[in-house]
Amino acid sequence: MRYENIIILTGAGISAESGVKTFRDSGGLWEDHRIEDVATPEGFYNNPDLVQHFYNLRRAHIKTVEPNRAHKALARLEDQHAGSVTIITQNVDDLHERGGSTSVLHMHGELKRVRCTNCLARVSWQNDCSQQTACPNCKSAPALRPDIVWFGEMPFYMDEIAALLSNADLFVSIGTSGNVYPAAGFVAEVAAHGRAHTLEINLEASEGATLFSECRHGKAGDLVPKLVDEILMGQ
Ligand code: OAD
Repeated sequence: MRYENIIILTGAGISAESGVKTFRDSGGLWEDHRIEDVATPEGFYNNPDLVQHFYNLRRAHIKTVEPNRAHKALARLEDQHAGSVTIITQNVDDLHERGGSTSVLHMHGELKRVRCTNCLARVSWQNDCSQQTACPNCKSAPALRPDIVWFGEMPFYMDEIAALLSNADLFVSIGTSGNVYPAAGFVAEVAAHGRAHTLEINLEASEGATLFSECRHGKAGDLVPKLVDEILMGQ
């Protein structure tokens, strides 16, 4: 087997062909909304109704889209590869899981969860949430917020991710602009161990493209299934 431990980092670009907006491309989410208003703890404190509404719309939207060829190819890789395959995703949609992947770490949280600011319970959530909605666990209201990591907050699973990166022998970054840390720094962490092949798959060169040992530029829906075929043939 050529690769034992494969780590895949995904960003908004992998869900673009499913019809989910990216953040920084033209027409992306940050063109229509100020990050400070909808993706910071201060924004939620200042206008919780606006923030709940923003994530309610996004939660409703992801129910209308389907996993694409890239999500499905990664699920095939997890299923058929003899070694381990872990997806670390910055995405808050559920398209990896619906595409069939089971080993997925949502480092920026998930739209289909809410978190109680009172009892800290994280609960699965399918529909709208508001300041009037009571926490199903402790019954407080207002108390629920989207279970999304906002700017200025610590991403989830950082210890687990550090361990995974140190053991990776193939690190593939798919559909991320490389603007947001800590995820943008993962390639350098992997490279520092000196054992892994690092590959970028993105529509265009990302901010960190020069840090990768190899870059392939084009659509994830075309390039990811080809990569998966190559890996499975080489094992
Ligand atoms: P961005 O919107 O910053 O970048 C998406 C990248 O995907 C761009 O570099 C595009 O060129 C590329 N792309 C678009 N369509 C593609 C396709 N079909 N195939 C391959 N690549 C494609 O999104 P992220 O890098 O994921 O965080 O953003 C990182 C974080 O910033 C997000 O998780 C979010 C955001 O603010 C939080 O909200 C905390």
